[in-house]
Amino acid sequence: MSTQIRLTITFLLFTYGLTGCFDPSFNWSQQEISLIKSLALPEPSSIHPLSLSHDGNEVWDNPKAAKLGHRLFFDKRLSHDETTSCASCHQPEKQFSDNTRLSKGILSSLSKHTPSIIGIANSKWFFWDGRSDSLWPQALKPLENPNEHGTNRLNVVHIIDQYYRNDYEAIFGPLPRFDNHQRFPLNALPAAETDTLTIKTSQIVINWNKMTTKDRDTVNQVFSNIGKSIAAYESLIMPGPGRFDRFAKSLQKNRASTDLSPEEQAGLKLFIDDQKGRCIRCHNGPLLTNHDFHATGIFIDNADDGRISGIEKALSDPFNCLNTKSKSLIPCDELLFAKRKTQELKHAFKVPTLRNISLTAPYMHDGNFSSLGAVLQYYNKGIPRFLFNQSTRPFHFDLEPLHLLPHELKQLEAFLNTLISPVNIDRHWLTPPLKKTSTRTTRKK
Ligand code: HEC
Ligand code: HEC
Repeated sequence: MSTQIRLTITFLLFTYGLTGCFDPSFNWSQQEISLIKSLALPEPSSIHPLSLSHDGNEVWDNPKAAKLGHRLFFDKRLSHDETTSCASCHQPEKQFSDNTRLSKGILSSLSKHTPSIIGIANSKWFFWDGRSDSLWPQALKPLENPNEHGTNRLNVVHIIDQYYRNDYEAIFGPLPRFDNHQRFPLNALPAAETDTLTIKTSQIVINWNKMTTKDRDTVNQVFSNIGKSIAAYESLIMPGPGRFDRFAKSLQKNRASTDLSPEEQAGLKLFIDDQKGRCIRCHNGPLLTNHDFHATGIFIDNADDGRISGIEKALSDPFNCLNTKSKSLIPCDELLFAKRKTQELKHAFKVPTLRNISLTAPYMHDGNFSSLGAVLQYYNKGIPRFLFNQSTRPFHFDLEPLHLLPHELKQLEAFLNTLISPVNIDRHWLTPPLKKTSTRTTRKK
């Protein structure tokens, strides 16, 4: 054999070894193929191919409500000092998150990392501890949180009255008049909605307490409709198919696919392997989350006790399924039968989606891991980040050490990088709506 031929053979072997392009049919069993299918986004044969959680929201798929929600999502007037909108933290160009360790509030840092809300309407519970049981009441919480929008219920309805009257009425019918400021003060908020002591005793709470029950109900109704409109907008923020979905589709059709490299396929194999990576135990379905809560040993301090308090807060939320008008229409089973008061909920947090994960660093509810490599190292050791003293035991921990080899961790990471799934809607939904927000729709107060 001439040196040239030998060199050519060596070169070819080297290239195939590296890219594996001579072995596009990675060995997948039927069971693995079904698991992979279960992780792919469904074909977009219907408008909303994923099941959406829109409990009690009559306008969740109303295009006018989505349009209003879009404007509200970007409207900084809905904040204490007109500096903050939902999009300040859930930035569309950053996968509706903010690439910051702990979310920046108007007073100080919040105690949590901002989660991406792509695909959020597919969840059953909202917030890291699941303290909201529906998407629309969730949207009301940051408005009244002193460190997020820092505004209050009456200010919000006055803004709707001033700037959004026509749009509101086109969706929900007549908007009551709020121009009698004796009955409807400019600022008022129920104490129950805040855990800040200074606010509980402040004038805005006194203002609320002076209002009649009937007027408070009127305000609450409009306030709820604001949440429902924002939720209608959020229901559009769905992930679109990416490289992984194309690969899964080819696999179903028994077609070899080069959409994933051999390294990425090896990572996928580990991801779905219940003995090796075990990720699929919790990160499953097309959003790569079981929408449930698990203790992975990460928490900031003992007070950060996750789901065990989250479910109690959801049960006492005045806008939860049981307390709102939708009660008669939907059974509220999720809330009624939710697991409570069990050790496994202590320090358990919501399993986040892994769609677009390579773009949403840092990671975990405390934002403490700056890279996917760091997350995987943590899983591999399977030791809680915090050591526990006697007083915090017994502590339930949902992970076991994986003992994967360094190259296997690299493969897993390579697979996670294939989950980029850009939002599947017209681009105009991803930028602030133009102009119209600044026009008054009613007389000046
Ligand atoms: C100051 C930053 C900030 C602002 C402003 C903000 N958020 Fe958030 N958002 C967060 C953080 C941080 C969390 C997680 C908080 C927690 O779980 O305790 C969160 C959680 C959420 C969730 C739940 C996500 C999940 O996975 O369960 C949704 C939905 C959401 N926000 C929507 C909104 C909407 C709608 C607005 C505007 C009305 C808004 N946010 C305003 C920072 C912000
Ligand atoms: C027992 C359930 C469980 C298993 C198994 C599991 N995870 Fe997670 N994962 C979670 C939970 C819960 C969180 C959020 C934890 C927190 O923030 O406190 C999370 C967070 C993550 C994050 C960060 C997401 C973000 O947006 O911050 C990544 C990445 C991740 N997991 C990948 C994996 C991979 C890869 C595997 C397999 C090696 C895996 N997980 C196995 C439950 C699990």
